[in-house]
Amino acid sequence: MTLGGDAPRTAVLAAERISKSFGEVQVLFSVDFDVLPGEVHALVGENGAGKSTLVKILSGFENPTSGRLLLDGQPVTLPANGAAEALGIVLIHQEFNLAENLTVTESLYLGREVTRFGVLDRRFMRAETRRVLDQLGSHIDEDALISSLAVADKQMVEIAKAISRDARVVFMDEPTAVLSREETDILFDQVRKLRDAGTSFVFVSHKLDEVMELTDRVTVLRDGQWIKTAPTSLLDGEAIAQLMVGRELSSLYPTKHEPNVDEEVVMSVAGLSTGYVRDASFELRKGEVLGFSGLIGSGRSELMEAVAGLRPRLAGEVRVKGQVLPPGDFREANRRGLAYMTKDRKGKGLLLGEGMTANLTLQSIERHVRHGYLDPASEANAMARAKRRFDIRVRDEKVRVGRMSGGNQQKLLLAKIMETEPEIIIIDEPTRGIDVGTKQQIYHFIAALAREGRSIIVVSSEMPEVIGLCTRVAVMREGRMVGMLEGEEISEQMIMRYAAGLRRQASA
Ligand SMILES: Nc1ncnc2c1ncn2[C@@H]1O[C@H](COP(=O)(O)OP(=O)(O)OP(=O)(O)O)[C@@H](O)[C@H]1O
Ligand SMILES: [Mg+2]
Repeated sequence: MTLGGDAPRTAVLAAERISKSFGEVQVLFSVDFDVLPGEVHALVGENGAGKSTLVKILSGFENPTSGRLLLDGQPVTLPANGAAEALGIVLIHQEFNLAENLTVTESLYLGREVTRFGVLDRRFMRAETRRVLDQLGSHIDEDALISSLAVADKQMVEIAKAISRDARVVFMDEPTAVLSREETDILFDQVRKLRDAGTSFVFVSHKLDEVMELTDRVTVLRDGQWIKTAPTSLLDGEAIAQLMVGRELSSLYPTKHEPNVDEEVVMSVAGLSTGYVRDASFELRKGEVLGFSGLIGSGRSELMEAVAGLRPRLAGEVRVKGQVLPPGDFREANRRGLAYMTKDRKGKGLLLGEGMTANLTLQSIERHVRHGYLDPASEANAMARAKRRFDIRVRDEKVRVGRMSGGNQQKLLLAKIMETEPEIIIIDEPTRGIDVGTKQQIYHFIAALAREGRSIIVVSSEMPEVIGLCTRVAVMREGRMVGMLEGEEISEQMIMRYAAGLRRQASA
């Protein structure tokens, strides 16, 4: 064979017929996957399809049960637990992996500390850390403790860490789930630059528009099996979605159901202030889906935490069905029928060391007590119902929640909130890390709740989501509510105008 100009390039890293089982449970079935030099390769699939497991195998964090890996065409056994970084193979985990008690600089240099005359060269390491952070457009303090950082900043540190290691292959498992659009743009610019210089990236994401925007090839997994690998340019978002779910998807959003204007006001918030949020006022009607939009950091979550009693208020009043809700009392808010779903499922939402059922009934345990004893059959019923309703897919019923795939954790959190049968539900980022098929289910579920007469607040950074779901959309900017859009006014353009401060609301 003669090598022409377009000779196939040897993959930097390849997986051949990789299978993986956890105990009795098989989650990958003879999967082939390869990473070419200087490409961005998307890996997509439904929640639980096996994406995170595959990238962990390709980076030495898990062993395959069978099959082999090739590095530069040669069979290789990767060293475990991150040691493959020495070979230039870096994984940025879906659920972060940073030690909380280190500083930013220390975590960048963990395991490869620089010394000068036998002592740690802190000055050099700090300066290098600063340089990489600046390159990423990040203002994080290089001396800050990881534990003090916001989620998006932790993600930036992970990315800085990968970049500072001169990696050959960087696996990014849903890196943009917690990033703002601006941060995402900066990240993508960096990825493109590094790619053009020869670094390869594997990009795992449920954001199919970002897959289209950034990647050169796409591989689709379904139920642990390889389905297709193709150049991104030959596909579009819809085609990818169909390959992922294996069927045609009907419309993503349900038809909107405008609540009657004279419907009862179930919740009113007046003049509420926290440290950052100032003077927020709004009403929520029975059967309404009210959206809260705005840039990341605009104060939406802080406002909702204060409403739900999870954060102190400095001023203002919240009424539920006309009755004043005492501030800072989350349990009382729950008793009055108000539920809050955090966007921080790992930190605040779920007990990762426990099983699914214990998590599901955590806030509603009294419903399963009979004659003073916990009734396991009643709990099991609730679990079976929740699995059906939210399409929670696990291959092992007894799996600890920390080992469930990210999307299935999100569904479980939603199910847990619904177990308390709330009338008012505040959902912060309902579909973070959720695949398109399940997104559609969650959207239809929210619409059905509203039709039943419940009221929902959806806080979301995904503009199509608030536009597709909500009959009114509040926009926040720098701690203030700056706009309230209704009906035809609800559009990306209008939301952006308010969110970016190009417009002030005429009326109060
Ligand atoms: N350590 C483990 N022990 C047992 N089961 C596991 C473990 N890690 C993963 N699994 C199971 O393997 C399957 C695939 O999970 P994986 O995390 O790879 O999915 P994913 O494609 O990344 O999904 P998501 O989009 O939700 O992140 C799931 O059923 C999960 O529960
Ligand atoms: Mg995953």
